[in-house]
Amino acid sequence: MHSFTALVSQFEDRFTTSLPFPASPATIYDPCRYLLGIGGKRVRPVVCLMANELFTDISEDAWHAAMGVELFHNFTLIHDDIMDKAPLRRGQATVHAKYGLTTGILSGDIMCIYAYDAIGKIHTALPQVLQLFNKTAIEVCEGQQLDMDFEQRNDVTLEEYIHMITLKTSVLLACSLKMGALVAGALGDSANKLYEFGKNMGIAFQLQDDYLDAFGAPEKVGKQPGGDILANKKTFLLVKALQNADAAQQKQLNDLLAGNDDNKVAAMLALFTATNAEKECRDAVAHYSDLAFQCLEEVAIPSKRKEPLRELAGYLLQRDR
Ligand code: IPE
Ligand code: IPE
Ligand code: MG
Ligand code: MG
Ligand code: MG
Repeated sequence: MHSFTALVSQFEDRFTTSLPFPASPATIYDPCRYLLGIGGKRVRPVVCLMANELFTDISEDAWHAAMGVELFHNFTLIHDDIMDKAPLRRGQATVHAKYGLTTGILSGDIMCIYAYDAIGKIHTALPQVLQLFNKTAIEVCEGQQLDMDFEQRNDVTLEEYIHMITLKTSVLLACSLKMGALVAGALGDSANKLYEFGKNMGIAFQLQDDYLDAFGAPEKVGKQPGGDILANKKTFLLVKALQNADAAQQKQLNDLLAGNDDNKVAAMLALFTATNAEKECRDAVAHYSDLAFQCLEEVAIPSKRKEPLRELAGYLLQRDR
């Protein structure tokens, strides 16, 4: 069994030495190499490898799945940064900010196709893996559209919010785990339990992402501070603040949402704290992490083998970037 850090470094070695992009045209591939070269936590490929290692020595198929899922994730980031008008990612300029909008669109598109190419190299259970991957990719697009739709609405419920983040973020983590299990030839029950573990972990992960966007240390998070607030994103923090606010706070929130004052970020942060949304967000991270850990315990594998996944889920709960 390998630890999280060991698998990150093994993945990093393989990934950077076996990137599939040709040299030319450099105008489309350099931006791909750029984004993949400026870091990233590599959570999705590593959970895929860990799920695989629950059942077998890590197989070549698992490496293809890991490569495919990390390429797909980075594709979604390029397009997400365009949609979110984000200037910064991983502490560096976003792809479209550095290379322009059309390059951002096309480099994202081509990275998505290379992701599929990596998945297509899988031998074991390829039809099931492809069906899962396609379903997941469709859900991510649906979730991203809901995220954009919600910018225009101030009446988003907590239930709608959880549905949206399940689609845009958590199903890809769940899919990564299940792919690792499927290519190991795991039984449906174990693979499905791992999927549920990933889904709950993914919800906790996006709640923490929302929290860090607002309250994280900018030099660690590597994104524009308060980017979600500036875009009127319906994060857990904002949905909860709107729900908990008294009449005066309600008016302040609505006034802030209607404009783009210089003090918008600071004023919103103060309201997130005053309405208890900040604390409830941290509680919600803990709640979904607990649900995730329960699902993991139910996977029918000797408990000791699950230690790396437990370690990883613990790290994600504490993460500051
Ligand atoms: C960012 O994902 C996008 C979300 C789904 C929240 P990560 O936080 O995994 O980004 P990197 O790959 O580590 O930069
Ligand atoms: C991104 O959610 C989800 C996907 C990329 C599919 P966010 O928009 O919150 O991600 P960050 O904060 O920009 O990484
Ligand atoms: Mg974004
Ligand atoms: Mg987004
Ligand atoms: Mg975010």
